[in-house]
Amino acid sequence: MPITYRSIFRPGLFDGQTILITGGGTGIGRAIAHELASLGAHVVLAARTLEDLERVAGEIGEAGGSASCFVCNIREEEQVAALFDFVLAERGGLHGLVNNAGGQFISPAEMISPKGWRAVVETNLTGTFLMCREAFNRHMNSHGGVIVNMLMEMWRGFPGMAHSAAARAGIENLTKTLAVEWARAGVRINAVAPGLIASSGLEHYPEAARPMIEQNVRDIPMKRMGTEAEVSAAVVFLLSPAAAFISGESIKIDGAASLWRKTWEVPEHGRHAPDEYLGFGLD
Ligand code: ADE
Repeated sequence: MPITYRSIFRPGLFDGQTILITGGGTGIGRAIAHELASLGAHVVLAARTLEDLERVAGEIGEAGGSASCFVCNIREEEQVAALFDFVLAERGGLHGLVNNAGGQFISPAEMISPKGWRAVVETNLTGTFLMCREAFNRHMNSHGGVIVNMLMEMWRGFPGMAHSAAARAGIENLTKTLAVEWARAGVRINAVAPGLIASSGLEHYPEAARPMIEQNVRDIPMKRMGTEAEVSAAVVFLLSPAAAFISGESIKIDGAASLWRKTWEVPEHGRHAPDEYLGFGLD
């Protein structure tokens, strides 16, 4: 069966490479896996749900690509270690890592429980750190490599998702630190920051969030959601030699949304009267 992904990049660009994609069983991760496989990479898909992984690995196989999968909860250090045992035993090396896995739920900040907060921060920030650290210690320190992390459009905060925005801002900073610390080993590490993307991730939000999402679309200067392929293209670019001198950088894929936004209604409230501080008493 022919390769079906219509990538903008050169066929064979990743021939002979192994690239590990977390969250590769659904949504944006699935699209990235398909595109990289269509360009010659062997993709290792990691996520918590075997069914999703096997379905995507099957799709890639049917399209003429090469994929394998491994169940892993990236929050758990031992499971991350086991994932790298698998990758290195099966493939003998690792050229690229896409830390796409993550998750969150919508909630006003004051209603997020410590348990919910920890779950989101551990999945997004700690999970990404554990994956980066294991990739470096187990292979990239001695062989070099390329890492791409996943952010969100959190540049001015993200009302309604305080936990995830804080975690992703942490990933952005981690990306910068690692770019410097690991440059000596020939490792490049960058991030992508998708805005509102039409992907399966959106289906997990409750029906009540629909109006907010629709308003968010109207607030995007390009007046549409992005596509999974548009995120994948940026990830593939960062993995490719075209980005050989780029490290510690984050690419926004958000239709200019982060440059203009009104997503959180602030009602008239009269709670910040100027007479709260009249330090200078002269007329
Ligand atoms: N996708 C979402 N959360 C995940 C996790 N904790 N581990 C792996 N993949 C995930």
